[in-house]
Amino acid sequence: MFAVYAGQLNPDDPLAGLVVGERPDPDVLDGWTTVTVKAASINHHDVWSLRGVGLRAESLPMILGCDAAGLDEDGNEVLVHAVISDPAWRGDETLDPKRSLLSERHPGTFAERVAVPRRNIVPKPAGLSFGEAACLPTAWLTAYRMLFTQSGLKQGDTVLVQGAGGGVATAAISLARAAGFRVFATSREEDKRDKAMRIGAHEVFESGARLSSKVDAVIETVGAATWSHSVKSMRPGGTIVIAGATSGDAPKAAELTRIFFQQMRVHGSTMGTRDELHALAQFLDITGVRPLIDREIAMSDAAEGLAAVIDGSVFGKIVLTL
Ligand SMILES: NC(=O)c1ccc[n+]([C@@H]2O[C@H](COP(=O)([O-])OP(=O)(O)OC[C@H]3O[C@@H](n4cnc5c(N)ncnc54)[C@H](OP(=O)(O)O)[C@@H]3O)[C@@H](O)[C@H]2O)c1
Repeated sequence: MFAVYAGQLNPDDPLAGLVVGERPDPDVLDGWTTVTVKAASINHHDVWSLRGVGLRAESLPMILGCDAAGLDEDGNEVLVHAVISDPAWRGDETLDPKRSLLSERHPGTFAERVAVPRRNIVPKPAGLSFGEAACLPTAWLTAYRMLFTQSGLKQGDTVLVQGAGGGVATAAISLARAAGFRVFATSREEDKRDKAMRIGAHEVFESGARLSSKVDAVIETVGAATWSHSVKSMRPGGTIVIAGATSGDAPKAAELTRIFFQQMRVHGSTMGTRDELHALAQFLDITGVRPLIDREIAMSDAAEGLAAVIDGSVFGKIVLTL
């Protein structure tokens, strides 16, 4: 079948190991099923994989991609939950020490077909296109869990979303606005700040700029470049929810004194559960909120989309269609 995969790992030039070609159909394990992929979406995870972060050389060649929407074996429109937990695991899949994401141990979604445990299939609301639905399983699910499970935010509270252009950040801005939070967002670029206002931010700021008021929670995925600003922007007792570190995970200052003295919480967050993905799909169906798609391109042009993620010239999600 047609597939986009990592043939080699290269920490400095991730696209050097990318192959667009043919791979065998995925193995369908006991209790698993196959989804025919209609659309997939790119995440920073795919770039990390090509750099050799989270993907080991002995697992190559590995089909990339965590996110997909398509048709199940009975022709139903579905999306796939990308967190693969151990068959013996019960409860929150993201807490399973043996969990992996599609494309880490099992072939990913940048292919004509992907195999997943039956439990990982979630119905696609008819009102969402395949491209929109393909944005949900990683970036949008991560933002959903950060906001609604981890942050402690209540309606009327203020949330700061760092790095407005990213997939998680655009999802967080849209979801937070729809949920009744006051939304602040930062970006290094004026154009992205304008776009952030258009998708729901109440106020936007240059990265690192002083905010008009302190916030109750921060949605942090940029990491080292914004960490100090996140800590300094919080009210006493607020919560930083962190799910990524695109700019590195070693900030110049850890801000430990401010964190304990202001009694802040730092809450790590990763992906979301299958039930949270189902709830997110329902939330979009009911509210009319839709993922912001930067561009839809043919899956055979995946290199173009990955290059845009690497150089940061993206606002929202890049969808790959078959
Ligand atoms: N834990 C999880 O389950 C999970 C799930 C999804 C993603 N993630 C991680 O979360 C991170 C975000 O992923 P993503 O795909 O949403 O977006 P992304 O493509 O990694 O970009 C995030 C944003 O970071 C900002 N940024 C990057 N470098 C910066 C710098 N030096 N200074 C200031 N801002 C900078 C940019 O914002 P502006 O250009 O607007 O300034 C960019 O739009 C990634 O590291 C990803 O691996 C983790």
